[in-house]
Amino acid sequence: MADLIITIDGPAASGKSTVARLLAKRLGASFLDTGAMYRAVTLAAMQAGVDMSDEEKLLGVLDGKKFKFAIKESKMAVYIDGVDATGQIRGQQVTASARHIASAAKVRAKLVEMQRQFAAGQEKIVTEGRDQGTVAFPNADVKFFLTASPIERARRRQSELLAKGAGESLEKIQRDIEERDKSDQGREIGPLKPASDAIIVDTTDLSIEEVVEKLLDYTKEKCLKKSRK
Ligand code: DC
Repeated sequence: MADLIITIDGPAASGKSTVARLLAKRLGASFLDTGAMYRAVTLAAMQAGVDMSDEEKLLGVLDGKKFKFAIKESKMAVYIDGVDATGQIRGQQVTASARHIASAAKVRAKLVEMQRQFAAGQEKIVTEGRDQGTVAFPNADVKFFLTASPIERARRRQSELLAKGAGESLEKIQRDIEERDKSDQGREIGPLKPASDAIIVDTTDLSIEEVVEKLLDYTKEKCLKKSRK
């Protein structure tokens, strides 16, 4: 098991991935974007033409394909049967269909196992998702839960889309985000919720750098306390 495990959970577009990546860099740690894993299985299921409501078939996709997750140019790269799918997993259809994979219990169990295996091979790790502090790593050293208002999250998502040359109205983006929140929070297994011992950080009025500094301060404080015990 890694010497230091930091979990960052939170809703869609709360800035988790960017913050996890930057925090990991500052700490000399690896990072894991677990949403990319759910997205990769979603894309593979779409490519195989599998019925998204058939859990056994989804599990078959996960078992039958070779998924590789690696850090490339400080981003999480995803390969399915050796083919780079890093860009494709961010497509709109994958985003919309991922909730089916996220609510398939057996797929979740297998992905959580893969997340633990990944962490076991690292000295320090920052891992982000929806259930990292609650299910995957309940004994993590430091747990964060990032939030931001739906309108602010919609604005952030819109800037990301614009940077990629894709446009979408703010209203539609906010509606999609709120729908994803509902689906993430209502799931029976691994729902989106803060762990009882998570530090909740509202990032609505904070820049990415301010969030990273805040998390870094909390981490240092928590680890110092631990080393004094
Ligand atoms: O964070 P993201 O948008 O890349 O997540 C993609 C999907 O995966 C989204 O539907 C939520 C789901 N997910 C999950 O259920 N559990 C995780 N630990 C990470 C993501």
